[in-house]
Amino acid sequence: MSNLWQSLQKPVYALAPMENVTDTVFRRILIECGAPHVFFTEFTRVEQVAAYPRRGLPGRMRCQSSERPLIVQIWGTDPELYRRAAAIIVQLGYDGIDINMGCPVRRIRNKGSCSGLIINPALAAEIIAATREGARSQPSGTLPVSVKTRIGYDRPVTDEWIGFLLQQNIDLLTVHARTAFQESEGPVNHAAILRTVELRNQLAPQTLIFANGDIRSVAEGGGLCSRLGVDGVMIGRAIFSDPHLFSPLGENPRSYANQSPRQKIALMQRHIRLHQQTWNGSRNYEVMKRFYKIYLVGFDGAIELRDRLNRTYDYQSALTEIDEFSSQVRYY
Ligand SMILES: Cc1cc2nc3c(=O)[nH]c(=O)nc-3n(C[C@H](O)[C@H](O)[C@H](O)COP(=O)(O)O)c2cc1C
Repeated sequence: MSNLWQSLQKPVYALAPMENVTDTVFRRILIECGAPHVFFTEFTRVEQVAAYPRRGLPGRMRCQSSERPLIVQIWGTDPELYRRAAAIIVQLGYDGIDINMGCPVRRIRNKGSCSGLIINPALAAEIIAATREGARSQPSGTLPVSVKTRIGYDRPVTDEWIGFLLQQNIDLLTVHARTAFQESEGPVNHAAILRTVELRNQLAPQTLIFANGDIRSVAEGGGLCSRLGVDGVMIGRAIFSDPHLFSPLGENPRSYANQSPRQKIALMQRHIRLHQQTWNGSRNYEVMKRFYKIYLVGFDGAIELRDRLNRTYDYQSALTEIDEFSSQVRYY
């Protein structure tokens, strides 16, 4: 099995993993609008992955082959569970395994998971080694192992932490250039990314580096790749203001702003129907409301329809509301 990260053309544009956003449904919608080079799943607990097939496939790992290349992101604290989870991910035919060492949510980091690992490098190293072992344990092949992290816990410690990770033999390191305590606040520290690239060149020339944090477009990401010397970028929240964000990577770049109101409403209807078919009952309908803000922008009546949908309580009431709105307002 070839290593995905070595085979992709650089610079690489990835969609950032986002819980309750980048599920199989949104990935399929984005393939229509313009796909990134690679997708990551929402972060999935190693306990849930390791319980496969006894407890079924975790919903966060659901996908169709059109969504590949797809990397499964995992989190937890028990190296043995990482080993087992990695072996399962290989057997199931995904394209890579990413370890979350960046989520700043207090109740998660306080238990030592995700960004909590920044202050426990010994456990972080054990987790990476166990994941690599699991990823190599299957006759069907091996998968690349990557880490997504931040530049420190309560203060930037790029040399210590990033330098340490780069000595753990990982295929890709994605750096959200803020500390865990910063969450999403304050400026992204580009100097820390430059330093990451220097460290990589000294310590692990084979490891790819992706920059993450506040990148608003493919053009901006490309500029950063040239300026900072990274191999790619991971873009997250910018997708909330442009579902066609990645379309410049394809042959027919389109801008969401140029879509007609009818096209925007139809895209949203497809998302609602697909979400219902895929998750009916197993995900909270409320997560749809984030998407109404994404799709319903830039046309007369958009805010009114959004307000009406924000008062709905299930898929059917949302679809009925859209039908009523569309029969009152004619768009061409
Ligand atoms: C709603 C939401 C959910 C997120 N879920 C995850 C996740 O599951 N795994 C992860 O590594 N990061 C997660 N993140 C962080 C993003 O992947 C990304 O690192 C962060 O948003 C900064 O990039 P951006 O400025 O391009 O959005 C999440 C962010 C948001 C806004």
